[in-house]
Amino acid sequence: MGNETDWQATAQTKARYNRIARIYDLMETLSEGRFKPWREKLWGLALGNILEVGVGTGKNFLFHPHGATVTGIDLADQMLVRARERARQIGATIDLREGDAQSLDFPDDSFDTAVATFVFCSVPDPIRGLRELNRVVKPNGRILLLDHVRIDRPIIGRVMDLLNPLIVRLWGANINRRTVENVKRAGLEIESIEHLGPMQMVKLIVARPRK
Ligand SMILES: C[S@@+](CC[C@H](N)C(=O)[O-])C[C@H]1O[C@@H](n2cnc3c(N)ncnc32)[C@H](O)[C@@H]1O
Repeated sequence: MGNETDWQATAQTKARYNRIARIYDLMETLSEGRFKPWREKLWGLALGNILEVGVGTGKNFLFHPHGATVTGIDLADQMLVRARERARQIGATIDLREGDAQSLDFPDDSFDTAVATFVFCSVPDPIRGLRELNRVVKPNGRILLLDHVRIDRPIIGRVMDLLNPLIVRLWGANINRRTVENVKRAGLEIESIEHLGPMQMVKLIVARPRK
């Protein structure tokens, strides 16, 4: 990481997810019913050699394309413990490693597809992370993102800004990220955006690397 602040923010994010790893699936039980079809749709677009960033407890594993080669990384080792157990239970072969989206340990143009679901809300420097995806995905590959973002309405958006520091501390995720803008700022080419959920607060983004 570049400087002390970045390093500290990353260590804090890791500590937060390690802390909630045991209850993460329980916390997400209610929302998961809504997320499932979106996850399914996103994974329907994933091809070839796939990188899943921020696998968490492995909620996407059931949606990985049959027979696909998938490498999964996560910052939080305690999330990975759950992910490994889930992979074992469903008999999936996934190369799972501890890693940081902001500094990926893969050569340029390693993957056909990179996928991240509900991850760039918590990556401390999302632009840096998105640039890393740009780097490791092949020029004709795709970057597939599913994430909640700041609601684009004056009062609700402002309330989200005010609540954000508390939510980040408790839950690890920012509720006011402008992920579509971040994808553009990172230099990726947006192929499509689907606006989902209440007040369109979830975005399914299909992007292409720009080399
Ligand atoms: C809200 S959870 C989502 C997990 C999973 N993708 C899902 O859809 O359920 C966010 C995950 O991103 C991971 N994460 C946060 N920052 C990261 C980073 N810089 N690099 C890799 N993983 C990160 C967290 O450890 C956590 O497991």
